Amino acid sequence: MKPLAFVGAGRMASAMVEGLLRTDKIAPGAITVCGGADPTARQLSERTGVKVAEPETVADGADFVILACKPQQLPDLDPGLLAALDGKAVISILAGVPLRKLRTAAPRARLIVRAMPNTPGQIGAGITAYATDPEPNDEDARVTAEVLGALGEVIAVAEPDLDAVTGLSGSGPAYVFEFTAALREAGIAQGLSRRVADRLARATVLGAAKLMHAAPQTTPEEQRDRVTSPGGTTEAGLRVLAARDLRAALKETVAAATRRSRELGA
Ligand SMILES: NC(=O)c1ccc[n+]([C@@H]2O[C@H](COP(=O)([O-])OP(=O)(O)OC[C@H]3O[C@@H](n4cnc5c(N)ncnc54)[C@H](OP(=O)(O)O)[C@@H]3O)[C@@H](O)[C@H]2O)c1
Repeated sequence: MKPLAFVGAGRMASAMVEGLLRTDKIAPGAITVCGGADPTARQLSERTGVKVAEPETVADGADFVILACKPQQLPDLDPGLLAALDGKAVISILAGVPLRKLRTAAPRARLIVRAMPNTPGQIGAGITAYATDPEPNDEDARVTAEVLGALGEVIAVAEPDLDAVTGLSGSGPAYVFEFTAALREAGIAQGLSRRVADRLARATVLGAAKLMHAAPQTTPEEQRDRVTSPGGTTEAGLRVLAARDLRAALKETVAAATRRSRELGA
């Protein structure tokens, strides 16, 4: 892989760097990072052996530059850094920043990628959707998928879909955490200790997720039906979820998050 530069060396940049180094497709010496005022870049370098540079020179030898600071830090980026993006491919993981704004910041970049990762990306178990300006050539598409692949799965979408992506997979981990906490509280309400209920709820969500992962051709509905025998306990529970219309609640949840993503990006 050609040299990479990271602008920002926080949680997501660290996850990408560490994920990439694990694949052996790039050596630490081919990655340069910069941070802001805090020592995140130096700490990442000490941990992994990647190079550290000042923001104005970080992009100099790189072919792909990954923007991984906070979205609100975009206006503070060094002008020398932005000028150095000419002719390069830029991958932004800044939540909610549209291609139009990124293009204004880097008008002569050969490719701009707007990516929306999610928090499990921090341990390589995320899914990242991305849109590009313009359509990438085969080589740029391959490198983009490899770089974002360090966070987990990767999927290309049209930019207008990124708000719904944010509402589903971007915010989705929080829904699952809330579901898990609710399951724990429900167990406590049935007399289990907090310790036991917490362990059961976490392991159940993880185990069900692993089952879905192990059988990608099987729909979640088929998985559900396999554990639901007529007249049994699961059926009795599911009947309540249907009566309370869990699906309608989630539809409204994702719609609200999608709407908010649109408002923030406008
Ligand atoms: N965390 C997630 O799961 C997640 C999910 C989806 C999208 N995202 C997006 O990923 C991006 C990074 O999130 P994060 O959680 O990794 O943030 P983070 O841990 O706070 O890291 C931000 C990094 O940017 C650096 N920085 C600050 N100002 C800078 C400047 N002017 N020039 C260059 N670097 C600068 C910071 O350096 P110092 O701290 O050293 O100052 C730090 O290394 C955000 O845009 C967020 O929207 C994150």
